[in-house]
Amino acid sequence: MIEHDAQPGWVAVEKYLSDVVVQPDAALQRAVRTAVDADMPRIEVAPNAGKLLKLLVQVSGARRVLEIGTLAGFSTIWMARGLPDDGRLLTCEYLPKHAAVARTNVDAAGIGHKVEIRVGAALDTLQVLADLGVEPFDFVFIDADKENDSHYLEWAIRLGRPGTTIVVDNVIWEGAILEPERDEVNAPGIVSALEMMGRDPRLDATAIQTVGTKGWDGFALAVVK
Ligand code: SAH
Ligand code: DHB
Ligand code: MG
Repeated sequence: MIEHDAQPGWVAVEKYLSDVVVQPDAALQRAVRTAVDADMPRIEVAPNAGKLLKLLVQVSGARRVLEIGTLAGFSTIWMARGLPDDGRLLTCEYLPKHAAVARTNVDAAGIGHKVEIRVGAALDTLQVLADLGVEPFDFVFIDADKENDSHYLEWAIRLGRPGTTIVVDNVIWEGAILEPERDEVNAPGIVSALEMMGRDPRLDATAIQTVGTKGWDGFALAVVK
């Protein structure tokens, strides 16, 4: 797991931005509280990042969102709020316990009708979706086991279309991407995804560093060409 060595100034500024600009409501606070109560890890996106996801879904005009890594549904609720009422979000979660907590949270947030949670290893679920011939996804958020990030990118392209927006969370990992020996599981997977985003002719991408309650991290944004 990532080391959270967030500096006091970063945390205070993030709290200020969250309170003054973002203002997460009771349903989002519930998603965090229920995760804590269920002894789940505190690794949901920060509120200002969640709001960014919501706005990106909205400005991209997405009607179909694919999420890889649900946890308690915090990012799920944000993104579902960026969708029109008949939009759909399919989210992949390995752990049945996490999926069950997320189900209660998305329902309590009033966006449950937009959300399908598929339990299992995401790589298996993605193959099932391909076999089912589902409609292309307009927006993909990758936020699960980092060692599979480049495989998830490949699936995002396969299940997407030209113009599909892809966001990959946690692409800086406290700088371990430059010293992969510091994290032999996650860092190499993140580096593979970053290299793919720079090299793959099907993708147009950038990556942004962030600081705050989650320490030193960041996200990548890519569009399928
Ligand atoms: N997107 C969430 C946080 C996700 S944390 C938010 O911001 O609110 C990562 C989640 O991915 C965890 O719930 C973990 O159980 C799940 N996960 C890990 N490996 C997975 C896999 N192979 N397939 C599907 N989900 C996985
Ligand atoms: C971890 C996973 C995440 O998706 C995240 O945003 C932060 C940390 C982790 O496994 O440590
Ligand atoms: Mg994450």
